[in-house]
Amino acid sequence: MSVFKGEVTSLPPDKSISHRAALIASLSDGETEIMNFSAGFDNQSTLGVLQACGIPVRQEEVPGPWGAAVRRVVIQSKGLWSFTPPSAPLQCNNSGSTMRMFSGILAGQPFQSELVGDASLLKRPMRRIADPLMQMGAGVSLSPVGTAPVVITGTKDLRAISYRLPVASAQVKSLVAFAGLHAEGETRIYEPLLSRDHTELMLGLEPRIENNERVIVVPGRRQLDARPFQIPADPSAACFIVALGLLGRGSEIMIRDVCLNPTRAAFLDILIRSGAAVTIENRRTVGGESIGDILVDGSRDMEPLVISDPQEVAIAIDELPMLGVLSSFATERFELTNAAELRTKESDRIEALAMNLERLGFECHQEPAGLSVTGRRERPAGPVEVECYDDHRIAMSFAVASKACGEDIVLSDREVAGVSFPNFFSLIDSLEV
Ligand code: S3P
Repeated sequence: MSVFKGEVTSLPPDKSISHRAALIASLSDGETEIMNFSAGFDNQSTLGVLQACGIPVRQEEVPGPWGAAVRRVVIQSKGLWSFTPPSAPLQCNNSGSTMRMFSGILAGQPFQSELVGDASLLKRPMRRIADPLMQMGAGVSLSPVGTAPVVITGTKDLRAISYRLPVASAQVKSLVAFAGLHAEGETRIYEPLLSRDHTELMLGLEPRIENNERVIVVPGRRQLDARPFQIPADPSAACFIVALGLLGRGSEIMIRDVCLNPTRAAFLDILIRSGAAVTIENRRTVGGESIGDILVDGSRDMEPLVISDPQEVAIAIDELPMLGVLSSFATERFELTNAAELRTKESDRIEALAMNLERLGFECHQEPAGLSVTGRRERPAGPVEVECYDDHRIAMSFAVASKACGEDIVLSDREVAGVSFPNFFSLIDSLEV
């Protein structure tokens, strides 16, 4: 069992907010400065597709508030219709956010484009983006099974629509909002379950409540003026460090300047409810987002995690793999239901968790929308290879268990962590005492 101590000031900048800052900059009139942009592969894919569509992007390293360098990105645009037809398919690599959210923008451009990705992205469901965009008047074609390549025939004549999200998805909400910015009239997005709300916050769209449902109203064809963005640290990355501290008994870790937007911080509520010693300090608002410091004290026992509320699942969706691995190793129990969406991520994360936990000796039972871990038969004697399935969060979840619990785990792919957390391995090594 290892012990971890220290202060973390080098978490990656938030992936979701970085994507949106770059996309909104590409739609705004003028020069946008984004401070602390993420170096993760996914966010770099978004900058790549913008450049391939004629948007000038500059990146440089500048001194950050904690001493180490941070990334400053500058994006130039002349507003909603500044894109030029790409000369080749747009490469989104592993990034579902890039493919889905940029599709909303391409739907409003008067040219045809094609979006492609890596093996993992080519398996993910895309009908959820084709449906609203086709209702708005764009042409969208997919593979026969509803996956990428996505070919979009955009139009300057997009129509505003009223759209009720069939699944809780901030990516789909955002792509409809981005398309809505190009459409004639007001686009209304009904959201039965709340998902992360960065797009609304960053576009200054105040949600309304109608008949108990959240509605976002997007005014079409309004000029957006360039404004600077400052990206806080990624709570989904913080979750791995929190789990490291909780599994490494006797650990004490302070994590600084983390985005604590309530639509992202549900994993902390889940942990606190289960008795974990996690506290929030120094809460404040920066650039419209709530941020604060997280103190992890790994000296207390926690109860098994039981996660079943669909709303909670929606806003802890990216943290569920780490929570599942943490609960399994700390308590030999885990209970997750109402989480079918977890099968549509960079991998089928229910399957990936179950297969790997079983290899590590746990008893698992999969349901279409969930997973339960009911105990551990044995701890395997030799090294166990964990299959990462092209999925950064699966790789990092098991890497945390390996590091903190002294499990002999070999990851099938360490590089994939760089999708969202390029300094993951050096950071966890630096915290070990
Ligand atoms: C994201 C939304 C979520 C999340 C993904 C990032 C976003 O996906 O899993 O990592 O930035 O909007 P869905 O919208 O598919 O739920």
